Amino acid sequence: MFIRHKKGWEIPEREATPESLFLNRRALVKSAVAAGALLASGGLAEAGFFSSDAPAPAMPDPSLGLYPAKRNEMFTLDREITPEAVNTHYNNFYEFGMTKNIADAAEALKIRPWTVKLDGLIEKPGMIAIDDLLKAMPLEERLYRHRCVEAWSMAVPWTGFPLKALIDYAKPQSGAKYVRMETFLDSKMAPGQRQFWYPWPYVEGLTMAEATNDLAFLVTGAYGKPLPKSMGAPLRLATPWKYGFKSVKSITKISFVAERPKTFWEQLGPSEYGFWANVNPAVPHPRWSQASEEVLGTGQRRPTMLYNGYGDYVASLYTGLEKEPLFM
Ligand code: MTE
Repeated sequence: MFIRHKKGWEIPEREATPESLFLNRRALVKSAVAAGALLASGGLAEAGFFSSDAPAPAMPDPSLGLYPAKRNEMFTLDREITPEAVNTHYNNFYEFGMTKNIADAAEALKIRPWTVKLDGLIEKPGMIAIDDLLKAMPLEERLYRHRCVEAWSMAVPWTGFPLKALIDYAKPQSGAKYVRMETFLDSKMAPGQRQFWYPWPYVEGLTMAEATNDLAFLVTGAYGKPLPKSMGAPLRLATPWKYGFKSVKSITKISFVAERPKTFWEQLGPSEYGFWANVNPAVPHPRWSQASEEVLGTGQRRPTMLYNGYGDYVASLYTGLEKEPLFM
């Protein structure tokens, strides 16, 4: 993906230290100060700090009981499912770092309470809590291919519901031509958002026809469980005929708009990461070929397929739009 190389003078002192070390150092200083205060008041024993070595128990995910959901057998694969451990540890989630290894950092993502705002040109604007949304929507499992613009791919058992189900619930007005989706904005929680040269928050968008296509899927789980944070909990998009950067993670706002939204990567590099971003092996990225892909976890390369093999579902969406850069 597009990475801006910072000039020396743009790096604040705190970023000169690797982020993880920096955060640990701050956490250490903070807890040392707090412990000092408690010690001074004789409060550590009283507070039960010495009573057990056990770490604080993690809060169970309130949606745990909804998984696994029944698989929709309409969506089949031509390859093995990517092992879960490969998938959860090879991610793009720039809010938590620019490497693929963001799983630990992404644990800082706070996914409850979590609300999704519906706004714009709809009959039913408002805020909906994720657990209410999960109860209201028809959850199912789908096996999808997932093709990143960087020429790697996976095959994922997602759980979620058709984006169309949410659109029907929101009741768009006739002026709504695009669906714009936005990630949270919280640079305290997500250190990547302190990198001011990125146009945070992450934004993606689809035309109304794309968003109501059978394949457009809002994901809440994977591998028969609630979605891991590294994969964009508690709500992300999957549009398997498009390059993966269209699959916005950790969505907090869905807006129905008349104008085509400017998307995150499009703002950074319009000639490399456009609005349409449909998979096409015959259209190279300006800096590399898209003819084949590395299938993660297998050590193999496979030829890439037009629309990632989903042409029967989506090719008709683009009739009459041939002049648009549909594959960029
Ligand atoms: N969404 C947010 N909010 N932030 C991101 O950095 N990266 C995108 C997309 N959605 C990204 C995002 C890219 S480039 C890809 S390839 C996919 O998420 C990666 O999804 P995965 O980590 O589940 O494979």
